[in-house]
Amino acid sequence: MTLLTVENLYSGYGKVDVLFGISLSISAGKSLGIVGPNGVGKSTLLKTIAGEITPKSGSISLLGETISGRKPEDIVRMGLSLVPEGRQIFSGLSVTENLMLGLTGRKDKASSKVALDQIRELFPVLNSHATHQAGMLSGGQQQQLAIARALLSNPKVLLLDEPSLGLAPTVIIDVFEKLKEIIANKTAVIIVEQRAHLVTTFADETVVIRDGQIQASLTPSDAKNEEMLRKAYFGTGS
Ligand SMILES: Nc1ncnc2c1ncn2[C@@H]1O[C@H](COP(=O)(O)OP(=O)(O)OP(=O)(O)O)[C@@H](O)[C@H]1O
Ligand SMILES: [Mg+2]
Repeated sequence: MTLLTVENLYSGYGKVDVLFGISLSISAGKSLGIVGPNGVGKSTLLKTIAGEITPKSGSISLLGETISGRKPEDIVRMGLSLVPEGRQIFSGLSVTENLMLGLTGRKDKASSKVALDQIRELFPVLNSHATHQAGMLSGGQQQQLAIARALLSNPKVLLLDEPSLGLAPTVIIDVFEKLKEIIANKTAVIIVEQRAHLVTTFADETVVIRDGQIQASLTPSDAKNEEMLRKAYFGTGS
């Protein structure tokens, strides 16, 4: 079942045009990678899908309903969450307080408790640091907290902007293992990544953005072909 469909999306900031006709879709239990050089509009794409930027034209639909033009909090309630670049957790608040923020908008206390318990099972490290200030956690723990908070709104589609940023290689493996579990639970996951090899290997499909457009689509088997990866990424063989 297709959960999210983006069609011919144009977006940017005021007079600055960034994206020129992006189309993509993702189904339940699937993962989509997005790679491309700095400044091509990867974060702009995720922010536009999440409702933080109003598209200039094109359409975005979630579970068959149009979401373009809606408020970010409405889009979260409809089933789409974004883990932004740089995590944006509240470092002065405790781990539990940060998690509670992910529950705002949920009225049903019982279902909130179930959701919190599930998240604690998926991220045991957050349990053992529950009362600690979030700013005192390691980078990998903070990334897990940011993902956990986004999951508390029970998203059907989860967007992640550079989840590996600033993490040591072994910690990146941990974070991607968590993503595997989330995908196995039938969430659709879109991952923007600087590490093209990592995400191309991981995701069912990875698209390359350049000049505000999708230039290529790669599968895990393409990750082995470094020449192809480089060409897709930079548009040249070198
Ligand atoms: N608030 C803003 N106002 C005006 N221009 C912006 C704004 N935010 C980003 N831009 C511009 O939009 C373009 C795309 O930026 P974006 O952050 O989407 O790129 P990116 O692909 O995520 O880059 P990176 O890999 O460095 O994170 C850049 O040229 C950037 O300068
Ligand atoms: Mg970015």
